[in-house]
Amino acid sequence: MMAETTTRPVNLILLGPPGAGKGTQARMLEEAFGLVQLSTGDLLRGAVASGTPAGLAAKTVMDAGELVSDEIVLAVLKERLDGPDLAKGTILDGFPRTEAQARALDTLLAAKGQKIDAAISLKVEDEAMIARVAGRYTCAACGEGYHDDFKQPREEGMCDKCGGMEMKRRADDNAETVRTRLQAYHAQTAPLIEYYNARGTLTEVSAMGDITVIAADLDAIVGKLTQVS
Ligand code: AP5
Ligand code: MG
Repeated sequence: MMAETTTRPVNLILLGPPGAGKGTQARMLEEAFGLVQLSTGDLLRGAVASGTPAGLAAKTVMDAGELVSDEIVLAVLKERLDGPDLAKGTILDGFPRTEAQARALDTLLAAKGQKIDAAISLKVEDEAMIARVAGRYTCAACGEGYHDDFKQPREEGMCDKCGGMEMKRRADDNAETVRTRLQAYHAQTAPLIEYYNARGTLTEVSAMGDITVIAADLDAIVGKLTQVS
């Protein structure tokens, strides 16, 4: 029988340390499947930039590479989860990061009659992540991500996606802070791999290869989830 597209929203989690490629792959999946990327890092950076109370509280913690409190992160995410643009589903990038966040997410989705369809763990090596993060920059206008060595725009200084000419780097993208972020990942977030394994939703993908090869692996996984037979 021909596969049809599911009408129920599909919710994915991309789990992985700093530099694993969560943001890079989430943007590619958005384009391919019409799902919406929800990055708590981006939401918090937005709150910092607009100087909201949540942003003011989060800034010092983010600059140090530690995790922002569950309370602040959940407040920021909850507001966004109610967005009318999420009809096809979401790609959660950088959330959840603690077991308390994972449990709160299960409750929030259950209240909408939804669930997590897959938690995709991007498997990488710590030392490679430091080089990835240290060389990263993004388009200031549309957020498209680039890298000094691994993903350069076609024309130097100009965004491939929107033609923007201003590129920016994150305050927490230095080798020292990345090490703290990696430690936070291993201590507080990596246990979620077992959390989702126990619920039968975990899929592991090697994220050490080329960006396009990893994208093809993810397309195959997400393609199956968005179809009903
Ligand atoms: P967040 O913004 O989520 O940062 P992160 O988890 O540290 O992850 P990154 O954004 O650094 O990496 P990425 O996996 O998205 O990699 P990317 O695709 O850009 O969080 C920042 C801070 O906010 C946290 O430290 C915390 O303080 C706070 N926070 C956020 N969420 C929170 C939560 N839920 N709870 C508590 N606190 C929270 O790729 C990196 C670079 O590598 C790019 O330049 C890219 O071009 C390149 N690249 C990507 N893939 C490849 C590849 N396969 N090969 C070579 N290069 C590649
Ligand atoms: Mg990111």
